[in-house]
Amino acid sequence: DWTMGAYREEAIQKIRDEVGDKNVICALSGGVDSSVAAALIHEAVGDQLTCVFVDHGLLRKDEAAEVVGMFRDNMNLSVIHADEADLFLGELDGVSDPETKRKIIGRLFIDVFQKYADQIEGAEFLAQGTLYPDVIESVSFSGGPSVTIKSHHNVGGLPEKMGLKLVEPLRELFKDEVRALGRELGLPASFIGRHPFPGPGLAIRCPGEITRPKLEILREADAVYIDQIRKHGLYDDIWQAFVAILPVRTVGVMGDGRTYDYACALRAVTSVDGMTADYYPFTHEFLGETATRIINEVPGINRVTYDITSKPPGTIEWE
Ligand code: XMP
Repeated sequence: DWTMGAYREEAIQKIRDEVGDKNVICALSGGVDSSVAAALIHEAVGDQLTCVFVDHGLLRKDEAAEVVGMFRDNMNLSVIHADEADLFLGELDGVSDPETKRKIIGRLFIDVFQKYADQIEGAEFLAQGTLYPDVIESVSFSGGPSVTIKSHHNVGGLPEKMGLKLVEPLRELFKDEVRALGRELGLPASFIGRHPFPGPGLAIRCPGEITRPKLEILREADAVYIDQIRKHGLYDDIWQAFVAILPVRTVGVMGDGRTYDYACALRAVTSVDGMTADYYPFTHEFLGETATRIINEVPGINRVTYDITSKPPGTIEWE
């Protein structure tokens, strides 16, 4: 009779046998997979685990504080908040090509992680939240020619380079099982149900050049949009929802004056695995109310559009 409680005990024993008295480091992203992996390993080996949260300055409003706060204060994990926004935004200055953005972010992520990891004494293991579908995917891709539409960055190749052994306690699990394990470990339900968020973060929701003022506007608009979705009880019906700030300014009227501000696009999709997706059929009432709120509450935006492209032919993200 298989239960998540039994799996948890078994997994903890396995991690203890594997790791012994050595130290483990983990790149904590705030996503469900790395969070559950970190919580499980912490339960197994306690203070031998140190997490590094790489903050590239491309996170949503309040995200860094929420993630770091939860793990540090509620779960007692040792978390290093690597605030490297200046480094990432500096290197991204003037860059507008989507794949170039991803490559820069991927490379810096590895450099930064390595820099912080080097300061942790006696680390011999790198924890990763690899799931069963990731294992299968990497096997079925090898050998054949693979078509990459978007290069997703991860810490692939890093363990060998740093001379670390991998701990991957979620390798046998599917996503829904990881969520169940997360609940079993006491992670808050709101955290486990969070929408996926891409590694390059807001960089790929800001088509064209990334600037700090644009990121600030994007964060505010996104926060209003997600607040609307939660208030209407729609969050759990949606796979992913976000705002993209468009690289175009439009004319508007506000009171007696003329405005010349950014346009934004709202995106919301349903999906099973992110491979295909349909746009979410919001009511016109919801869309109208949300547009009004964003324009009233977010200085810098004077026009709101809704993206009704499905995947394929579109992708979920704008870049
Ligand atoms: P697309 O836009 O390709 O997105 O339809 C499919 C899923 O993947 C996420 N995504 C990424 N995740 N690095 C990531 O870690 C990336 O570069 C990246 N690009 C897209 C996207 O948010 C969606 O969940």
